[in-house]
Amino acid sequence: MPLPGSNGQSQQQHVYSREYAESLDLQDPLRHMSREFLIPSKDELKAENFDQVESRNSTLPASESSVYLCGNSLGLQPRLTSTRIQQYLTTWATQGVFGHFKRLSESPLPTWLHVDGCASDNIIPIVGALPSEVAVMETLTANLHLLMSSFYTPDINGRHKIIIESKAFPSDHYAVESQILHHGLSPRTSMITIEPPDLSVPVLTTSYILSVIAEHAATTAILLLPGIQFYTGQYFDIPTITKAAREAGMFVIWDLAHAVGNVPLQLHDWDVDAAAWCSYKYLNAGPGAIGGMFIHERHSQVSSRSSEGFVNRLSGWWGSDKESRFAMENHFVPIPGAAGFQLSNPSVLDITSLNASLEVFKKAGGMAPLRERSLKLTAYLESVLHSSPFFNAGFKIITPSDPRQRGAQLSLRLGPGLLDVVVKELEKRSVVVDERRPDVIRVAPAPLYNTFKDVFEFRRAFDEALEVAQKAKAGLIQAQGTTEQQKTS
Ligand SMILES: Cc1ncc(COP(=O)(O)O)c(C=O)c1O
Repeated sequence: MPLPGSNGQSQQQHVYSREYAESLDLQDPLRHMSREFLIPSKDELKAENFDQVESRNSTLPASESSVYLCGNSLGLQPRLTSTRIQQYLTTWATQGVFGHFKRLSESPLPTWLHVDGCASDNIIPIVGALPSEVAVMETLTANLHLLMSSFYTPDINGRHKIIIESKAFPSDHYAVESQILHHGLSPRTSMITIEPPDLSVPVLTTSYILSVIAEHAATTAILLLPGIQFYTGQYFDIPTITKAAREAGMFVIWDLAHAVGNVPLQLHDWDVDAAAWCSYKYLNAGPGAIGGMFIHERHSQVSSRSSEGFVNRLSGWWGSDKESRFAMENHFVPIPGAAGFQLSNPSVLDITSLNASLEVFKKAGGMAPLRERSLKLTAYLESVLHSSPFFNAGFKIITPSDPRQRGAQLSLRLGPGLLDVVVKELEKRSVVVDERRPDVIRVAPAPLYNTFKDVFEFRRAFDEALEVAQKAKAGLIQAQGTTEQQKTS
């Protein structure tokens, strides 16, 4: 995506300037959204003692903010979160068990009995689902297991394989491996891992994925892929891959950890079978907060009260029909839709936090304007990185350059031996990104709260960090050379 004035070398210099970044912020219709979040200040990040941070006045902007580009790992806290959580605590303190059923007028919070449904309603536009297709529940890996426990019924003489990518997030890998073992099968024969044909370019093209699907068409039960790959930031072509895999008779599950709240999704229209996500990254619900899942309506119908009338599942009382839930009759009849896959009554504390963040998404106008903003922010990041003197000398961008094939994040592969010093130097400058050993940092301007100025500040700190790291490396090589010489002489 070209930026205004981004052609030619002198223009590149112009683009990489604080004034230019600030002018982009001024033109940004969503520039006010960053004020909705608590951005750690530089001093706060350096604090060692809780007393130093406890007195933070959350109604004022922090004096000197850090540059936080790590929403792909943990999203920042919306200011609204503490208000809503305090309201939840007040309800609990003053109403006790009645909070389950009694709605206090003027309260912005739903009753606890309906809190999960309220969160699902809020998340439906973010994932593009019908109301019955989403449940806010459990956590990501647990939900992947729950999905596979219902929809992975392998037949060693027919469909028994699960296809994932070789660089899948370890939790997905473990989940798949253990599901296969759980059915008495071997991952050696039943788990197919898609390996990038060229390991130096770790992205997987759609045509390559389709060729793996075709190769294992007759024997694969499940295809499990990430919407956005955690390491490279590659955004897969969900509709095309889903169509091919479904036509080949597979059940298609997407892990949307890095996609939800990052890019607009249309899971129902894309005919996805199922998906699961967490809410602590771009959804900003807080560390380890409740996750969610999507199940296409075709898989969650309840045609009769007998167990033949619905897909079998690992069940719990919260998935059972709301009318008879408290009758304690020991007769499980699932709620039609994804909600029928719930197990326990959910953490209201978690959902209150998630709903607070989803209110902020609504305030921003939803995913369409956020994606528009995100495309510009990430294009700006790419553009200032291209003009860095270290580009292709000290680092490469491994995320696809086609904006349709990526979300907010760019993954940067550093030259050998630079990572430790670069990370330390960025930290010294209060620039927060995350590292994937041995040589990658991931930089994610979050669509909701990062600014063009953050991107400019990152480039400045990154150049400085690379310079220190290259000098340190050269010094080390020189020192090693001297030692070798001393050894041989
Ligand atoms: C792609 C992906 N899958 C799975 C997980 C594991 O999530 P959880 O610990 O919430 O189960 C993560 C966590 O970051 C992830 O990024």
